[in-house]
Amino acid sequence: MRDLVIVGAGGFARETASAAAAANRVRPTWRVLGFADDNPELHGTVRSGLPILGRIADVTSRSGAAVVVCVGNPGNYTARQRIVERLGLPAERYATVVHPSAEIGAGCTVGPGSVLLAGTVLTADLSVGAHVAVMPHVVLTHEDRIEDYVTVASGVRLGGGAVLERGAYVGAGALVREGVTVGAWSQIGMGSVVLRDVPPGEVWVGSPARFLRSAAKLEELTQS
Ligand SMILES: CC(C)(COP(=O)(O)OP(=O)(O)OC[C@H]1O[C@@H](n2cnc3c(N)ncnc32)[C@H](O)[C@@H]1OP(=O)(O)O)[C@@H](O)C(=O)NCCC(=O)NCCS
Repeated sequence: MRDLVIVGAGGFARETASAAAAANRVRPTWRVLGFADDNPELHGTVRSGLPILGRIADVTSRSGAAVVVCVGNPGNYTARQRIVERLGLPAERYATVVHPSAEIGAGCTVGPGSVLLAGTVLTADLSVGAHVAVMPHVVLTHEDRIEDYVTVASGVRLGGGAVLERGAYVGAGALVREGVTVGAWSQIGMGSVVLRDVPPGEVWVGSPARFLRSAAKLEELTQS
């Protein structure tokens, strides 16, 4: 078993702890030490039966444990990249946490620091990059390319050959047509149907999805 520290203590972090526990029930894999979070009010408290161990930089540097960064929400989906860049850990320190009910088909790859929650299906011949968050019951299909730091919320389905560029956020239940690209750091609203390429740094919503507004701070993000 490998020691594991989960960065963050919010919903996604606790869901990842549950996925690790589920994996252990099939095959002992992770010794989850607890969460690391920079909010001092949380230190010494317990979430989902696990301790909040301390500040992110302190916890990750003093233990040799594997790390998975589980922060980010629809209003702050850039936080994962910022923390990973700040930590500067080598790729081999990052854990890939996969719920045992996820189906990973032939020719699929999943990068370090990525999480696949329950019921996710990766059909065949597709790639999921590093530090990607895939929520429950997402379906990714042949030749999809999911780049680093992408967030795919629950129930999203992608047609074949779709591309989610770096840091894109696809909201719950959205559908993306085959061959369509969602640009870097763009955000797709929940329930949207994406039929055309979405440029980088834009928020699109609806069915068919249309431009709503620019995503905040794109320049800052793409420069980092
Ligand atoms: C797309 C999103 C980021 C927009 O948030 P926002 O900028 O705060 O937008 P607002 O709520 O102010 O809405 C602005 C307009 O867009 C519309 N809109 C917002 N989200 C929409 C969606 N998902 N589908 C269709 N229209 C949407 C609103 O109705 C509103 O229209 P109006 O101006 O005609 O009244 C947000 O609505 C969203 O869908 N986030 C993803 C949520 C999610 O997937 N959560 C899962 C968590 S794991």
